[in-house]
Amino acid sequence: MMSVGAAVIGSLQFGYNSGVINAPQKIIETFINETWYDRYKEPIPKSALTIIWSITISIFSVGGMIGSFSVGLFVNRLGRRNSMLTANVLAFIAAALMGFSKIANSWEMLIIGRFVIGLHSGLSTGFVPMYVGEVSPTALRGALGTLHQLGIVVGILIAQVFGLEMIMGNHGMWPLLLSFTFIPAVIQCVLLPLCPESPRFLLINKNEENKAKTTLFITIADMQEMKEESRQMMREKKVTIMDLFRSPLYRQPLLIAVMLQLSQQLSGINAVFYFSTLIFEKAGVEQPVYATIGTGVVNTAFTVVSLFVVERAGRRSLQLLGVLGMAGSAVLLTIALALLEQLKWMSYVSIVSIFAFVAFFEIGPGPIPWFIVAELFSQGPRPSAMAVAGFCNWTSNFIVGMGFQYVEELCGPYVFIIFVAFLLFFFIFTYFRVPETKGRTFDDIAAGFRQPAAGGAEKHSPEELNSLGADSQL
Ligand code: GLC
Repeated sequence: MMSVGAAVIGSLQFGYNSGVINAPQKIIETFINETWYDRYKEPIPKSALTIIWSITISIFSVGGMIGSFSVGLFVNRLGRRNSMLTANVLAFIAAALMGFSKIANSWEMLIIGRFVIGLHSGLSTGFVPMYVGEVSPTALRGALGTLHQLGIVVGILIAQVFGLEMIMGNHGMWPLLLSFTFIPAVIQCVLLPLCPESPRFLLINKNEENKAKTTLFITIADMQEMKEESRQMMREKKVTIMDLFRSPLYRQPLLIAVMLQLSQQLSGINAVFYFSTLIFEKAGVEQPVYATIGTGVVNTAFTVVSLFVVERAGRRSLQLLGVLGMAGSAVLLTIALALLEQLKWMSYVSIVSIFAFVAFFEIGPGPIPWFIVAELFSQGPRPSAMAVAGFCNWTSNFIVGMGFQYVEELCGPYVFIIFVAFLLFFFIFTYFRVPETKGRTFDDIAAGFRQPAAGGAEKHSPEELNSLGADSQL
C-alpha cells in the first residue's frame, strides 16, 4: 500500500500543475505586464500578452508529450522505482524556476519552469501506472490502478483551493503557489527509497528471483504468473516503439490503448478543467470560482466511487457507462446554454450538467485508460506501449487546450456537440473492440489477443479473426 501511495505522489504533481495556473491567471498576467513595462517602458500589447499566456499554459503539455515519450529510456535501465525517484530532480528545478521568476523579473523563467514540470508530469504518467500495475496482485490491479487518477484529481482540487485569491492566488503569493510542487517531491524522495522495486522488473528483466519474492504484495500465484510471463519473454526480443507498430501481434492492443487515450482527452474533460470558470461565467453563474471548485469536489468523489466498483463492474462496462453518460450530460449542457437567454434558471441546469459530465468521466474514461495500457501488454512491449499511449494522451490534451477557445468562439453554445460526436464514436469502438481485463492475468490478456477463443470475453470481426489467426503462428 505504501509503495502505491508513494508512487501516486507523482500523479498528484501532475494534477496540481495542470490545475494551478487557472485561478491566478489575471494576477500572473499583471506580473507579465509589469515585467514588460520595466524592460521596454511601454505596456504590453494585448496580442503579445495573449501569446505569452497561451504558451505558459500549453508548454506544460509539450513537456508532457516529450516526457511521456521518453519513459522507455528510463524504466528498463534504472528500474521503475528509481526512475520515479530520479524524475524528482525535474520537480526541484521547475519549482526553483517558477518560484524565483517574480524576483528575477522574468516570465521566461516561468515558461521554462512550466516546461520542466511538464516533462516531469509526462514521465509520471508512464512510470506510475506501470509501477502500480506491476506491484499489484491481479485481483486489485484495477482498484490500485485507479489510485493514479485519484492522485491526479486530488492534485487538481488542492490547486483549485490554494489558488483562491484569499489563500495563495494573489500578487504576493503566486510564486510560492507554483513552487509548492517541491513539497510532494521531497515527500516522495523520503518515501520511495523505503519501497520495493517492481517484482516483475526484478524477476523478468533482471532475473533476480529472491529479491522479487520479498515484495509484500506478491502471492505464490503471482510468482507463478510472473515466471510464466518471464518464459514468454525469453521468446520475445526487446520491443522497441518501431517493433510495436510493425508487428501484427500488437496491432489490436495498440489500437485499443491509443483509442482509449483519445477517448479520455477528446471527451472534452479538459475543456471543463481549463475553462470552467469561463464556461460558468457564460452560463450566468454568479460565483464561477466556487462552481469550479465544485467540479473538483465532484471529480474527486466519483473517482473514489470508481475505485470501489472497478473490480466488480469491470473496466469495459464502466468505460461504456462513462462515455455514454458524458454524451448525455453534454447534450443537456448544450440545451442549457442555448436556452439561457430565454430562461435564466438554465444556469442551474448548466451547473448540474457539468457536474454530471465530470462524474461520468471519473466513473470510466478518467481512470481506466491510464491503467489499462499496462494490462494490455506484457513485460516486453509494456514500456514502449506506455510511451506511445502517453504521447497520444498528451498530444490530444494539448490540442483541446489550445483549440477549445477558438472553436468556442465559432460555435458558441453548441461547442460541446463536437465532444458528443466523439463520445458516441468511442462508445461504439469500446463496445466492439475493448475486451474485459478484470481479474485476468497479464499473460491471459496477451494470449487473448493471440487466440480469440482464450478469455472469451469479446466478439471479433471476421477480418480481426483472420489477422489474429495469422498472429498465432508467430
Ligand atoms: C485525467 C486526464 C487529465 C484530466 C484529469 C481530470 O487524468 O488525463 O488530463 O485533467 O483526468 O480529472
